[in-house]
Amino acid sequence: MTTTLVTGIAELVTNDPQHARAGASEDERLLGLLTDAAIVVEDDRIAWVGEARRAPDADRRVDVDGAALMPGFVDSHAHLVFDGDRSAEFAARMAGERYDGGGIATTVAATRDADDDRLTALVARRIAEMRAQGTTCVEVKSGYGLTVEDEARALRIARRLTPETTYLGAHVVPSGSDRAAYVDLVCGEMLEACRPYARWADVFCEPGSAHAFDGDESATILSACRDAGLELRVHGGQLGEGPGVQLAVELGAASVDHCTYLSASDVTALADSSTVATLLPGVEFSTRSPYPDARRLIDAGVSVAIATDCNPGTCYSDSMPFMIALAVREMGMSAAEAVWAATAGGAQALRRDDVGVIRPGARADLAVLDAPSHRHLCYRPGVPIARTLEV
Ligand code: NIG
Ligand code: FE
Repeated sequence: MTTTLVTGIAELVTNDPQHARAGASEDERLLGLLTDAAIVVEDDRIAWVGEARRAPDADRRVDVDGAALMPGFVDSHAHLVFDGDRSAEFAARMAGERYDGGGIATTVAATRDADDDRLTALVARRIAEMRAQGTTCVEVKSGYGLTVEDEARALRIARRLTPETTYLGAHVVPSGSDRAAYVDLVCGEMLEACRPYARWADVFCEPGSAHAFDGDESATILSACRDAGLELRVHGGQLGEGPGVQLAVELGAASVDHCTYLSASDVTALADSSTVATLLPGVEFSTRSPYPDARRLIDAGVSVAIATDCNPGTCYSDSMPFMIALAVREMGMSAAEAVWAATAGGAQALRRDDVGVIRPGARADLAVLDAPSHRHLCYRPGVPIARTLEV
């Protein structure tokens, strides 16, 4: 057992409401902000949090020299198991083409062609890139295999690198397949093969897209996955209003992701539930779509997370600081709300209480900023000020 005292913290984002002192501002309260703080880490856990002048002794000392320290980002939505290049599709969109999910087939072909070593190396490199920018917990989906073997392989590879793995056999109906037969496969043999490597199941529920799944198909798939012991999350409301949000709420999904298009009753349903709305502003950036209205959700009392959705089609960025900057500039969130959503919000979307927070007992997953305050994450967009602090 080794203890490390981290000092020189100008601003500590704890996300622990216990630190809200009388007279604190709304931002200070939300983020459980402390100034002139210190923490003690014992092996891989936080052991102590408080004012620097009250800090206990420890075996080692790390001085962050006036930096802001915060929980590592929790990226609760990413599709990292893929090969191939779709930059031409991106360029076509910038020139006015619309996104409809059709390009997924290109990635499926390239991913099936990659051998295990290559696919493993690609995922590991993407996770290392995320870590270098302050992300310490990431969810990884399958969904570019779409056969029993290729979906199970994607999850087997992902599982070696993160516990937050998601079975997304229901990403799209593969070209040439019969819809009903494919839904049967996803609920049967494919689910059986993937279950050992997956914590979660997800469905791309978008009745307006010829490629994705409608409400009935999504309900069938999600129910089968839940009965098989997987916890649920849903892609809903990305391309238009649809049944995804209500379905997620009814089935007790941890999160419904995108939420770009929401009806008034979707917002009410979310507010009355424990389902998190996960917003993915990099997708709107990369598909030239209108951004989701985070303000409407937060004001209605919905828990909001933000994540990258890193994938080769709609957002090939794994940068949580970039998502925070977009959330503030384009979705009406304050810097404090965006930072909370990228840490504690992500943790809630993954039903984790040991990440996204700096409190005794939590994992010592830490991000340090080359800046004195969390506000610099949106004030200095595109500048690599965040990194994981290894202690
Ligand atoms: O979250 N919407 C479905 N899936 C991904 C995009 C996948 C792709 O285009 O490759 C998303 O946006
Ligand atoms: Fe996605």
